[in-house]
Amino acid sequence: MSEHLPDKYPTDSSRRRFVRGVVGSAALAGIGSASAAMVDTLTTPPGIGGGPTLYRGAERIGGPAPRSVPQIPVRVDDEGYVVGVWPDLQEVEQDGIPVTIAEMEIEGFTYSSTWFQYCGIQSTPGMIPDADKENYFHYTRTSNYDWQTEETEGGDRLHIDHFDDYETWAEPIGRGGLGKGAQARWRSEDEDSRDAIPVQVIRSPIVEERAQEDEWLAATTDEGFIAFLNQCTHFCCVPGWKTYRDAPQFNAEDMIYCQCHQSVYDPFSIVTETFIALPRPEG
Ligand code: FES
Repeated sequence: MSEHLPDKYPTDSSRRRFVRGVVGSAALAGIGSASAAMVDTLTTPPGIGGGPTLYRGAERIGGPAPRSVPQIPVRVDDEGYVVGVWPDLQEVEQDGIPVTIAEMEIEGFTYSSTWFQYCGIQSTPGMIPDADKENYFHYTRTSNYDWQTEETEGGDRLHIDHFDDYETWAEPIGRGGLGKGAQARWRSEDEDSRDAIPVQVIRSPIVEERAQEDEWLAATTDEGFIAFLNQCTHFCCVPGWKTYRDAPQFNAEDMIYCQCHQSVYDPFSIVTETFIALPRPEG
């Protein structure tokens, strides 16, 4: 696999449309969108960089998890590597103090690094908005996917060539033809496991098809690739799409399933929700 310069802050490709705008009624018009919670009924915890956050994620359809797992917008670069889009850096003032935030508008939604600030992820070095990190997804060193263990090296960057069979892939559980999954790290390849940012990546013909009609999916997926922070919103276990063999017992064989307490998320239904993001230690 050829190496090339890291893409620290990827720019828009010609295939993508990151349209700047404001969150409004149009923001709720996407497929599978649930209603947004009442932001102004929530309170902000102490600290800088957290608070009520509107985000988009894979719909929770079962189990005790309180909400969806957040989506990570992706793009495929010119060489076929899969990149997680990190929001644009901006200088703002919070309580009179200048701070750097990572935030951008995508199809009427505000995509922010605060989407990922829960379950300790808010404390990882990769969550600092201007951290010196590149944004490629890297395969994990261990994986529940046999194909990934056999065909890739942990630490390699995800490449589209490994997903050529995404329209027919059919293991290890559930229906075939829904797509092909991989487990990855994001903005944490050089960190120890405690500071890893886990990602569930799926390349799916369903995503590809829906992206033709849905502006949000058109802007946040690429070549059928879609990605999510792989951190359960219940008690922070690491779930997986078609990775746990007990998932069929809970009708979750084709869903993202968390083995800890059987929470189930639908990666093909993207909803809009609100939660209280935890502040980053550095502010
Ligand atoms: S269902 Fe409890 S941690 Fe995921």
